[in-house]
Amino acid sequence: MSESKQRYIGQARPRIDGPKKLSGEARYAADHHLPDMTYAYGVFSTIASGRINDIDTSAAEAMPGVIDIFHHDRFPSLHRSPDNFANGTKVDEPRLPFEDDRIYYAGQFVAMVVAESFEQARAAAYEVQVSYRPDTPITRLDEALEQHKPTPDEGSRHERGNPDSAWKKAPRRIEAVYNTAMETHNPMEMHASTAAWDGQSGRLVLYESTQGVVFTRNTIARMFGLLQDKVEVKAPFIGSGFGGKLFVWPHAVAACAATRSLGRPVQLMVPRAQMFTTTGHRPATRQTLKLATDNDGRLQAVIHDSVNSTSMLADVPELCGRCTKSLYACDNLRVSHATVPMNCGTPTAMRAPGAAPGLFALESAMDEMAEAVDMDPVAFRLRNYTERDGSQDLPFSSIHLKQALEEGARRFGWEKRTAKPGSMREGDEILGWGVAACNWEALKVDAKAQVTLQADGRVLVSCATQDIGTGTYTVIAQGAAEALGVPIESIDVELGDSRYIYGPLSGGSWVTASILPAVAQAARAAVEELKGYAIARGGPFESRKKDDLSFENGALGVKGGEMLSVAEILQARRLANAVGEASTSGELGKAYSYRSFGAHFVEVRWDPGISRLRVSRILSAIDVGKVVNPRTAANQVEGAVAMGLGMALFEHTEFDQASGLPVNNDYAEYLVPTHADFPDMEVMFLHYPDYNFTSEGARGVGEIGTTGLAGAVVNAIYHATGKRIRDIPIRLEQLMVDDLAATG
Ligand code: MOS
Repeated sequence: MSESKQRYIGQARPRIDGPKKLSGEARYAADHHLPDMTYAYGVFSTIASGRINDIDTSAAEAMPGVIDIFHHDRFPSLHRSPDNFANGTKVDEPRLPFEDDRIYYAGQFVAMVVAESFEQARAAAYEVQVSYRPDTPITRLDEALEQHKPTPDEGSRHERGNPDSAWKKAPRRIEAVYNTAMETHNPMEMHASTAAWDGQSGRLVLYESTQGVVFTRNTIARMFGLLQDKVEVKAPFIGSGFGGKLFVWPHAVAACAATRSLGRPVQLMVPRAQMFTTTGHRPATRQTLKLATDNDGRLQAVIHDSVNSTSMLADVPELCGRCTKSLYACDNLRVSHATVPMNCGTPTAMRAPGAAPGLFALESAMDEMAEAVDMDPVAFRLRNYTERDGSQDLPFSSIHLKQALEEGARRFGWEKRTAKPGSMREGDEILGWGVAACNWEALKVDAKAQVTLQADGRVLVSCATQDIGTGTYTVIAQGAAEALGVPIESIDVELGDSRYIYGPLSGGSWVTASILPAVAQAARAAVEELKGYAIARGGPFESRKKDDLSFENGALGVKGGEMLSVAEILQARRLANAVGEASTSGELGKAYSYRSFGAHFVEVRWDPGISRLRVSRILSAIDVGKVVNPRTAANQVEGAVAMGLGMALFEHTEFDQASGLPVNNDYAEYLVPTHADFPDMEVMFLHYPDYNFTSEGARGVGEIGTTGLAGAVVNAIYHATGKRIRDIPIRLEQLMVDDLAATG
């Protein structure tokens, strides 16, 4: 359908699930209180490395309400899950909970008390006495690098041309090392599992706060040796995940094991403090950037080598070079990744994994390089603009980075910028203006959808994807309303139940792009089924052919003739509904490289008299193809920008160097941007549908806003202060001293 005729796709719509969330009708994983339910509470390691000596549960066992206490000597034997993304099985921490007496990180589950109430379980958990044989932990990336040789991630390495020799030969070059801190995703809704084993039927039901009900079902089934059909995972509402809820963490396994052992439902919530230890994080990175240009500012070499912290249990590379390899034109280029272990929980994807820290470094280096060739930062990026992905030697399916930079600059007022650092003053404050590109893969995965036309006139769309807070319910309703030509108010959407037809994991910003084609096809299939009923014997259009009939405004009929409602047709045949299903492939055409683009423009205000730094204005020009819902999409970019601000200014998960215990493991001390920190912000979508990518032209919008933002902030700070910050989050003392080299 031509764009101008679209009534729902492309319209700013409020969330259809909003009223349920506001009224409390929406229930989250820990809101399910099942009959005869028990409550579990973890006992968490207070050392970061070593072994358990002894666990004394006698005092805890004697406490009121205590039912059982699990630990490594008393835990059901389980199986490890295969780690196979293609098959939909994946764990974040490969070790099974309570597998042995070894401690790899502070906050690791060492025991779990199950009691009649949450309070009883928690009180008893505090009385479980664990003694340890501690080893000296490794608590920081630099310490890890002193003690271990990094393990390269060969699969993600990319090299073309002769980057090292080209860098050496080029007339202008820079080299710099950038460090980003460990960050921890802290969605409002903490991880929680409510698990119920039914011994009679051998079925397990799990209410889990997860970004993937199907992945969780598949993985839990493998661990417990059950058929997939014997496991149901439900997550109709999720209080965000940001990547921290993509895969299975130990608490979910522990809750399922406990319910199967005890024969009663078990609820286990991860306390906020352990959201900093045992449910993943974005690792710390150290990135070396070497850029070189000719005398006209054309990139001759780009080298981006990075290493990140990981746990003792798994090598999880943070792919900092994932954007670097194709964002700008350059024939001599290398990106490489490596990991080095320390005593922390296992890292995982955190919003725009790799791209967020990677573009901080690359876009900082681009700013440094622009200055080295005496070019305006926008002009420098435009000089190195390319419409071909050099890493695959393919054209981009659709790229409007040029427009993002040019139109964004115009709207921001960039022409008023004076180049010299510290040259833009307003009263006591010095203004700094910075720019950075943003970039993310356009991803698409297999998806299915089911559309049911019901006799009461309502339409039900269902599948086993989930809405993690991004607006998936609403976007699916828009897609179905568009395909059927019925009011959006008549659409119901049900998601977040592994029993529904297959739906994708909510990750990678791929759900909208993946699911909309399936929804549209399933809607058309449902109409076809309805037409079949209408023309069959006893149907109201018995003598007609399917092609004679058209479906308009929720009614079926011969063009220009009598239109009958869905209800009338179904009733004539005594049918409950007409159902359509569709299955779409995630496979993409081989002729293109698929990515999204954009540019952030940031204004900071630095008041040197009182050492106050504020980010005062942000404009983000975003090129994500068709924007299905500008309202929820803008909300995604704003939230992603807030996370980028957190990365630049605040977020840093720190461990005590002696004990390896987390230091700032709550919302009071782990700093994130508040409303007061959030500037005047404008999201500017460029609206170029990408029909090379999908039939709807939408590329997905969840993660891209986080990329590049920290670079734009740091570049703006440089413009205000003349101080180049290469370690984030920034600390004010880095701006207060004159000799920056002294701060490290
Ligand atoms: Mo995203 S980091 O794939 O939830």
